[in-house]
Amino acid sequence: MTDDSRILIKGGKVVNEDFSEMADVYIEDGVISAVGLDLQVPAGTRVINATHRLVLPGGIDTHTHMELSFMGTTAVDDFNTGTRAAVAGGTTMILDFVIPQKGCSLLEAYEQWRRTADPKVCCDYSLHVAVTWWDDTVKKEMETLVREKGVNSFKMFMAYKGVFMLRDHELYAAFSQCKEIGAIAQVHAENGDLIAEGAKRMLSLGISGPEGHEMCRPEEVEAEATQRAVTIAHSANCPLYVVHVMSKSAAKVVANARRNGRVVFGEPIAAGLGTDGTNYWHKDWAHAARFVMGPPLRPDPSTPGYLMDLLAKRKSDKLLMKQGDDLSVTGTDNCTFSICQKALGKDDFTKIPNGVNGVEDRMSVIWEKGVHNGKMDENRFVAVTSSNAAKIFNLYPKKGRIAKGSDADLVIWDPKATRVISAKTHHQAVDYNIFEGMLCHGLPVVTISRGKVVYENGQLFAEQGHGRFIPRKPFAEFVYKRINQRERVGKPSPVSREPYAGKVISPTSK
Ligand code: URP
Ligand code: ZN
Ligand code: ZN
Repeated sequence: MTDDSRILIKGGKVVNEDFSEMADVYIEDGVISAVGLDLQVPAGTRVINATHRLVLPGGIDTHTHMELSFMGTTAVDDFNTGTRAAVAGGTTMILDFVIPQKGCSLLEAYEQWRRTADPKVCCDYSLHVAVTWWDDTVKKEMETLVREKGVNSFKMFMAYKGVFMLRDHELYAAFSQCKEIGAIAQVHAENGDLIAEGAKRMLSLGISGPEGHEMCRPEEVEAEATQRAVTIAHSANCPLYVVHVMSKSAAKVVANARRNGRVVFGEPIAAGLGTDGTNYWHKDWAHAARFVMGPPLRPDPSTPGYLMDLLAKRKSDKLLMKQGDDLSVTGTDNCTFSICQKALGKDDFTKIPNGVNGVEDRMSVIWEKGVHNGKMDENRFVAVTSSNAAKIFNLYPKKGRIAKGSDADLVIWDPKATRVISAKTHHQAVDYNIFEGMLCHGLPVVTISRGKVVYENGQLFAEQGHGRFIPRKPFAEFVYKRINQRERVGKPSPVSREPYAGKVISPTSK
């Protein structure tokens, strides 16, 4: 009889973000209890052979929207199907978003999301909370969420005018509060005013199809907002995380800010790394509508490769200064609407529910376009698919590392195996796949979540409610060391001088 609470992964190459080694991994009661060779393990331990395979930390998807109600409908992948798909793809943790309606309590929205997710998740998860309006109660609730509820990241929208969008003074206030309470500010960076004007213009020109979605919000609309967010975050001395970096222009803004020493992180997503916005011009409306998300995929076909280049850079690259990598981490923005839901916008692109798939395929797409294509090594792959996320969101080394004491969230990866991505075989509830037909080298053969085999050789053993909510502490060292030092040394001070003693005119009254 084998005891499933004990697993020995034997003969594989353990890959962490900083180095790889031939080592076995012994797991006991959900935790990694030893990494090394010739480990002594109790009789009855289940042995998994990982010869010729890599043993990686399970993926962390930094950006999902399971069962989000948005634009008049609800995303079809819920916390059950979404996390089943995640583990089938080698991801063992997701960070989802609580998005309260304007005027509604952040705390109540958070509690509601916990009630929804807790019984359904098949892998661990944590929550970001969106700030969609501003007043003193929001400010207080942010503090409560950080102190008592395990939240250390808040997303602010610069788009979705009239729905979620904040103005600059509200962004400044929200960023300042994030800094006070040790959270990281996340932004959806697009200029919502320009999008609203652009959309009216496209519709007035008779452009009502999915191509109008991209044309009303070209790259500079994303880049301008990204630069504005960087500026506001710097004046509040707040760390910034730009979610879904979709264009070359916005990526350049993030990269420049980092080279100038700003505490900014950029998150490209699987969609932006694996496909492009030329699809919006496809003759088949249903094909084109699948790709509608905000910010849009870009029609410049060199965009995915460019984003991958910036993601692939690492500290040791000679030409890079200070912080090293230009883009740091990857998510998916998984927010899936089936074709009949997308069809809400069949006559008007502004009504197409925004969102794409990715939670299942992110690891394979990044391996294919990054590692298989020779742009990054296996260690950088681990950095951008799990470790950096764990560091930024204060989960490291419990998550994002294979080491004694870390959670037993890992994936046995076969770099030689191949598969073709298809909606016919994927585990997601959505009825298409934006990566349809993509050949991927490198796949997960076994996924282990909290010490349990949840996926093995194409079969899912994931159970609803197996995953746990993972609370996160504020003031992540990786993010806050520089912020705190700048706070200490960078406080503006007045010039000490004698008071002006000369004549002062009387102001003229109108
Ligand atoms: O199109 C998108 N991105 N849908 C989800 C909401 C968001 O902005 O992340
Ligand atoms: Zn967004
Ligand atoms: Zn999103």
